[in-house]
Amino acid sequence: KKVRKPTNVVSTICDDRGEEPTYFGVTMSELIEEDYGIGDVLALLWFKRKLPKYFTKFMEMCIMLCADHGPCVSGAHNSIVTSRAGKDLVSCLVSGLLTIGPRFGGAIDDAARCFKKAVEDNLGAAAFVEGLKKQGKRVPGIGHRIKSKDNRDKRVELLSKYARRFFPGTKHLDYAISVEEYTLQKAANLVLNVDGCIGALFLDLLHSSGCFSQREMDDIISVGYLNGLFVLARSIGLIGHALDQKRLQQPLYRHPWEDVLYTR
Ligand code: ACO
Ligand code: LMR
Repeated sequence: KKVRKPTNVVSTICDDRGEEPTYFGVTMSELIEEDYGIGDVLALLWFKRKLPKYFTKFMEMCIMLCADHGPCVSGAHNSIVTSRAGKDLVSCLVSGLLTIGPRFGGAIDDAARCFKKAVEDNLGAAAFVEGLKKQGKRVPGIGHRIKSKDNRDKRVELLSKYARRFFPGTKHLDYAISVEEYTLQKAANLVLNVDGCIGALFLDLLHSSGCFSQREMDDIISVGYLNGLFVLARSIGLIGHALDQKRLQQPLYRHPWEDVLYTR
């Protein structure tokens, strides 16, 4: 009788013991010879399967379009300040990453959770928005500091256009847009933002691609995989900002007194 020694760690996504490391069974040689891209690697290491081209291409588009949004946003600002304080690259990167959360870049999972539930419950946009308001909550995936009704977010437009052309279905995007139509009546900056758009479109991919069981889809949304797309994407920009400051030999940052209201 074989007695299996209990292990301290369980791992299901990759294996480095053989002649060649594998990502969910796919060897490094296959990755290179068969021209896999970053989206295919995400499919293997995050979702433990090969996914169709329109799916992996969409994930790559998210990474490309969310890689940076200028030096003024929370994450880039933190990385710039940290770099100018003479800190190492990893410190600059994590200092920026730590700002990603419910207000900035990290609203994708919550947006997906809310849109999923609302679509399941057949809840109209008005009831959905007012319901969250009653709970004192902002609608995740709605609102932007600089984007508005007349100055739309190009990323949202590009991702939506791609989805309409290549996804088998877009019912969650359609729902998110109906929410936006309602919130825009309240204020011009309450647009569907890039977090909300990715959240809705990922739901559409999960539901219409036929690549996941109901249980797997529920797990992906409840565990919270989707903010990972923004974290991964924005790391590219944050590293860029940190290196830019070092190359420019920028001095220690100090915020100007004039920009602070000193009061009691
Ligand atoms: N849902 C409902 N009402 C909102 C929302 C929202 N998502 N956003 C703003 N409002 C309303 C509120 O009444 C708010 O008043 P309050 O401060 O008393 O709650 C009022 O608009 C004024 O807010 P603004 O000054 O217009 O918004 P602000 O510029 O402070 O915030 C932000 C912008 C943080 C993006 C906000 O809209 C928000 O929290 N959205 C939800 C989270 C989200 O989706 N974040 C991702 C943004 S995209 C990205 O970071 C890549
Ligand atoms: C971003 O991608 O960083 C933004 O949408 C946030 C911003 O204020 O521009």
